Amino acid sequence: MNINDIRTKYLEFYKTRGHAIVPSASLIPQNDPTTLFTGSGMQPMIPYLLGEKHPLGTRIADSQRSFRESDIEEVGDNRHTTFFEMLGNWSLGDYFKKEQITWMFEFLTKELSIDPQNLYVTVFSGDPSIGVSQDDESIGLWSDLYKTVGIDAKFVSIGSEADGYRVGMQGGRIFAYDVKKNWWSRAGVPANMPVGEPGGPDSEMFYDFGTAHDPKYGPECHPNCDCGRFMEIGNNVFMEFIKRDTGFERLAQQNVDFGGGLERIAAAAQNNPDVFVAVDALQEIVQLLEHFSGKAYNDSRYQRSFRIVADHMRAVTMMLADGVRFSNSEQGYVLRRLLRRAAQHAQRLEVEQGQGAESILNRCAILIIEKYKGAYPELAGESTFEQITGEIWKEELQFGRTLENGMKELEKIILSGSVSAQDAYTLFTTYGFPFEMTSEIARERSIAVDEEGFKTEMKKHQDLSRAGSEQKFKGGLADHSEQTTRLHTAHHLLLKALQTVLGPEVHQRGSNITSERLRIDFSFARKMTKEEIADVERIVNERIAEALPVVRSTLPKEDAEMLGAEHEFGAKYPDMVSVYSIGPVGATLESPEFTAAYSIEFCGGPHVANTEELNGTFKIQKEEAVASGIRRIKAVLQ
Ligand code: ALA
Repeated sequence: MNINDIRTKYLEFYKTRGHAIVPSASLIPQNDPTTLFTGSGMQPMIPYLLGEKHPLGTRIADSQRSFRESDIEEVGDNRHTTFFEMLGNWSLGDYFKKEQITWMFEFLTKELSIDPQNLYVTVFSGDPSIGVSQDDESIGLWSDLYKTVGIDAKFVSIGSEADGYRVGMQGGRIFAYDVKKNWWSRAGVPANMPVGEPGGPDSEMFYDFGTAHDPKYGPECHPNCDCGRFMEIGNNVFMEFIKRDTGFERLAQQNVDFGGGLERIAAAAQNNPDVFVAVDALQEIVQLLEHFSGKAYNDSRYQRSFRIVADHMRAVTMMLADGVRFSNSEQGYVLRRLLRRAAQHAQRLEVEQGQGAESILNRCAILIIEKYKGAYPELAGESTFEQITGEIWKEELQFGRTLENGMKELEKIILSGSVSAQDAYTLFTTYGFPFEMTSEIARERSIAVDEEGFKTEMKKHQDLSRAGSEQKFKGGLADHSEQTTRLHTAHHLLLKALQTVLGPEVHQRGSNITSERLRIDFSFARKMTKEEIADVERIVNERIAEALPVVRSTLPKEDAEMLGAEHEFGAKYPDMVSVYSIGPVGATLESPEFTAAYSIEFCGGPHVANTEELNGTFKIQKEEAVASGIRRIKAVLQ
């Protein structure tokens, strides 16, 4: 069974159980500043989990392309990948634990024929400090299901992960762990959740590969042990709580948020713990590299490099398809880092390099395009193909020049007789010259490099940037704060005003909203004049003063298109869509009066109910170029 088969089976399974199948959202989150990349299937679902009506109903399923930057360094073992596909299904106040657990068990054991003897599950142990008790309902459900296949599933209460290493399996099949392991929210454990964030207890499923426990990790093995015997293949989150000032409250609706990594499910279905073998797309890249390098994947000297090239090139291809371009900031920087790491490791494998669309990295990209374009149409099409391969080759050439400049600098340093930590760090940060190369070349010349010192410098740098991203996360989770909602409505007014002043060919090309400011990227060829900026500000402020109603409606996609509703950039739409219209005075959900509306956009919200709630003066703080033909505005409500 290849991954295309498993994905199709999963979506079919949920479709026949009443789920609407939605297309994967972009890897670049829209109106969600919490993360640079979509890292789980639920991110685009937040408003609906909180109670907004989803245009397609209360049962949704998808396969979401996801990326986790934090895993870049982990890639190299048999299971970590940065890009992965997350199979997801959601009940938005519809079914709950019984259906979810029963269907999951059926899907894994019947559809994928996974042997239930190899399946282990965990549940939440409860925590008096947040007023949530042990998940006895899930324990009962799992135990009954195991009974149907002749397994007497013993329950073991473990506690913390550390307890797990101490007490071990004890013949158990269903295990309870604490908040660190069996509670899920975007921000992690309850204590880290900001007010307004939803979360809940979860029940995870593990596959047992039956390998011997490695005591290096702890005296005893248990499902959450890192020795490699168990692999987590899916997480059923029972998202029914929200954090308030005073503690946790139940949401008005009981939701299910399921997410399972397709790659890991494939590994379990094939009883092979190595995703670079079990996932056909990754395996084919491995074989391609074997062919062009003459090296064997099973040679332990090279295996890590094989895995890094395969993982990184898949991620690079997917990001390019979603419109990310190589740069030195945000998503573009991550993209650059991935490609350059892949290039270095391809070099380590001593592959034949090739030119243009036939460079080795482009051969990997083309393989990914072919494999995934059926499931993800954003990869299909000749112009996409040309853009992806063209961008990769351009970046390869530039990296080549970077290495050359770095080499020159390194030669100068080497003349001085030693390479200090600061030298290596400057080579890395200023010249983009990888430390591995500095140390390799210095070694060849029998010159010492202060590796410890370099690591210390890097750690300082990482701590700083981590502090930065925590800040970003905090800011972002205020996403549902009132100020963010106001800025979101102002964003719609702004786009319309830009079209009025600059011309109807102006369209949104990117967006990002925090509680402090909004940012819009839009297509326009030149710098705006002072007068144009002033006009746009005036128009937005007039609309605010007119106190226009903001109305959300659900329409067939064709109708919304016919009304000229603005598309959200990068989004893919199902047959029924949600649109927000602003104005005219008197419009209501029953009579939205689209033809007289000031602005209409495809959008999931949230928004204020009336523009008077914007409650401030709209002001453009900055107008600048971000790319050729793309301008960026940052604006605030003062
Ligand atoms: N949202 C849950 C996760 O990412 C399913 O694990």
